[in-house]
Order: sequence, then C-alpha cells, then structure tokens
Amino acid sequence: MRGGAQSQLMRCEDEGYYVVKFQNNPQGPRILVNELLGTRLAARLGLPTPAAAVVEVQASLIEHTEDLVMQLGRHSARCRAGQQFGSRYPGSPAQTVAYDFLPDEQLREVANLADFCGVLVFDKWTCNTNGRQAIFFRARGEPRYQAQMIDHGFCFNAGEWNFPDAPLRGLYARHRVYESVRGMESFEPWLARLEEKMTESVLEQAASEIPPEWYDFQLDALEQLLEQLLRRRQRVRELIRAAWKSSAQPFPHWT
Ligand SMILES: Nc1ncnc2c1ncn2[C@@H]1O[C@H](COP(=O)(O)OP(=O)(O)O)[C@@H](O)[C@H]1O
Ligand SMILES: [Mg+2]
Repeated sequence: MRGGAQSQLMRCEDEGYYVVKFQNNPQGPRILVNELLGTRLAARLGLPTPAAAVVEVQASLIEHTEDLVMQLGRHSARCRAGQQFGSRYPGSPAQTVAYDFLPDEQLREVANLADFCGVLVFDKWTCNTNGRQAIFFRARGEPRYQAQMIDHGFCFNAGEWNFPDAPLRGLYARHRVYESVRGMESFEPWLARLEEKMTESVLEQAASEIPPEWYDFQLDALEQLLEQLLRRRQRVRELIRAAWKSSAQPFPHWT
C-alpha cells in the first residue's frame, strides 16, 4: 500500500482482507501500538473506524512471498514474522474501492461528514502529528459514501510518545468537512463521551490487548502514555479553541 509504513494488503484466516503494518516498518514498532490503541479508543468514542486486529504472519509465508519486503533506504529487508497490526479492508478489494481522497464536491455528500468533528476531538486528545486520514467507500447498493477514520500511527507523536500540541495539528486537509461547525456545541457529543467514558479501566483494557513486543516490553513507558491521556481529557476544548482562533480559520461559520 502507499504510505510510509509500507503496509501490505493481506487476506487472513477469517477470510477478511486487512491492511497489515509490520513490526519492522521504517517508522518503528511503536506505530503498531498507536494503531491498535488509537483504533480501539476512537471506536469507543463512537467514531467510524475499520475493525482492528492483531494479525499473525508466519515465517513460511514471508519466505515464499517475494513482495513481503520492506524498502529501507537503499536496502531491503524481509517483513518480520510474528504479530502485526491489521486494519480491516471494507469488503473485498475486488468489489469495493476504498479512496484516500474525494473531490470537495463529493465530500459534501459523504453520509457521516459530522464524524470529522468527532475525530478532531480524538486527534487533539491524542496529539496526532500527522494530518487526519480517512478512507471513503460505498457499500454495495448504497448511494452515498461512508468515511472511516484510518492511520493512527502518528497519534502520541509517533514513536516519541509526547504531545507537542499545535493549533493546526490533527485537522483534515480539506476544511470543507468542517462547514457545519457553528461553535463548541458541534464537538460536544464526542467531548462528553471523552470526559465520561474514557476511564482508566477503559484505557487499561485497550492497552492489555497490545503485544508487549510492540513496545519493547517497556511497560513503564506505556503506563506513562496512558496517564498522560487521562490527564489530557480536560484540555481538548482549549485545543479546539486554539484551532478555531488560528490563522487558517478552519471553521468559517463559527463566529
Ligand atoms: N482499513 C483500510 N481499508 C482500506 N484501505 C486502507 C485501510 N487502512 C489503510 N488503507 C490504505 O493503505 C494506505 C496506507 O495505510 P496508512 O494507515 O495510511 O499507513 P501509513 O502509515 O503508511 O500512511 C492508506 O493510504 C489507504 O489507502
Ligand atoms: Mg497514512
């Protein structure tokens, strides 16, 4: 697949297709932690995300598949066997096309456009240092596109696990998706869920699913990450307000 993590589209044992990120991807193994934790927490906030799974890739498959390699500068290395991160493809690639971008005119017709407000709450909370990314697809027989939020690899500032907040961070590149924003109330449903539902035990539960190899068995670092997330729940309103006040003016109808 396109993108810095050089992920691979793979059909898995459950017959589903997954976009798989490997432990030895060029961005480092913590990207996989961010993906699994990020996807679980986004779903818990009520956001549309693909199903996420830990995918076991066997050494024999890698040995017999020429394409399962990682390009690392001038060198290439085989993908590492073991537990990887998988993001479920909607349906089968032969029948459903998943687009990375839609032209502005078509963006307006996305059935769940308001979820981009919701995902901004998430991206401010987690300090996603990449622009927001989504896929768009039409389920069979559906006239309208659905958006699903993908790529949580750069939440918590990628492998750094710090939170360098900045006003424009986390915004979706096409500001059209924010046309409906009239004030902080446009973000309230997700702010309320963040404050009420994201308890310590919810975070611990999500973290317990992560293969320890992905964070090099540094349980302290993971615990610190969760603590920071808990503390940051109170800051999100302020971070959204800073985006509103910024020179980019992402919310033209918020006066
Ligand atoms: N669940 C998914 N369903 C369909 N396509 C996906 C899915 N996840 C990722 N992709 C595709 O794979 C590409 C790479 O995935 P992404 O998570 O963005 O990785 P990277 O960290 O390399 O940018 C995306 O641009 C998108 O086209
Ligand atoms: Mg990406």
